[in-house]
Amino acid sequence: MNYPKVTKMIEGKKENSDVKTLLFEYPEKTHSGQFFMIWIPGVDEIPMSVSYITKNVKGITFRKVGDATKALFNLKEGDKIGIRGPYGNGFKFNGKKILFVGGGTGIAMMVSAVEQATKKNISATVILGAKSKKELFFEDRIKKCGAEVHITTDDGSQGHKGFATDLAEKLISKNKYDLVLTCGPEIMMKKLFEICGNIPFQASLERYMKCGIGICGQCTVGKGLRVCEEGPVFDGKTLKNIEDFGVFKRDAAGRKIRF
Ligand SMILES: Cc1cc2nc3c(=O)[nH]c(=O)nc-3n(C[C@H](O)[C@H](O)[C@H](O)COP(=O)(O)OP(=O)(O)OC[C@H]3O[C@@H](n4cnc5c(N)ncnc54)[C@H](O)[C@@H]3O)c2cc1C
Ligand code: FES
Repeated sequence: MNYPKVTKMIEGKKENSDVKTLLFEYPEKTHSGQFFMIWIPGVDEIPMSVSYITKNVKGITFRKVGDATKALFNLKEGDKIGIRGPYGNGFKFNGKKILFVGGGTGIAMMVSAVEQATKKNISATVILGAKSKKELFFEDRIKKCGAEVHITTDDGSQGHKGFATDLAEKLISKNKYDLVLTCGPEIMMKKLFEICGNIPFQASLERYMKCGIGICGQCTVGKGLRVCEEGPVFDGKTLKNIEDFGVFKRDAAGRKIRF
């Protein structure tokens, strides 16, 4: 399982001008919130959360930002990639009424969590936040699972004008949620964590990864927690003690980068 399994891309779907979903045959049991290490031969190996889960086919959804994601974006059906995983812990759906908050590219992994939760008859309210309408994706896929969907855009080009956290604060003040799940920019997740107070909370963190299996120590946060192994999803109690949460991450050389 720790060697890349070479598989063919069976479908590629553009979600917007910069975001694409790739589907590939991969029968390993996978839970939402887990991730794969995706090897693009001759380019790089990068972590990607699962965004599509069926028994034999899995998918990833990504924004093209650099060499690896640009190479993935240009793959054609039938092209080969290497996949390791799934790795990490994934979300735990405790409760009957969950608020999901996905910001930016974080929407990509949130969709499979909403799909899995609604299949368990959990009532899902979903906030999708983006800078503008043209950066949004997956609204229809999430609506299809029967979730209550709210859109926020920073510039007001679709849905509520403002940040996802502003709307979350309003919804939390009027409704009782058993759990809040989030993935997105860490500043957004930190703000949401503060808003949630005592409401059970889970956030998916991203850190620069090399091995993806807990060996190299590259992705460590707080006091020795490896995002690839103990995460990427951390609950509120754990996040409270991770002093880097929402403050800084580390680059490939281990240097601190402030959010
Ligand atoms: C657990 C996890 C799940 C992720 N899931 C998704 C996803 O579902 N969709 C998505 O679009 N992105 C996801 N990412 C981020 C994705 O791995 C990076 O955007 C990607 O590695 C960028 O590679 P690049 O060569 O295209 O860009 P680069 O030019 O190399 O980098 C662009 C940005 O990505 C960061 N980055 C580069 N390499 C890594 C790495 N090995 N680990 C973490 N960050 C890196 C850099 O710090 C930089 O900020 C995830 C990251 C982690 C840790
Ligand atoms: S990436 Fe090596 S320990 Fe997490």
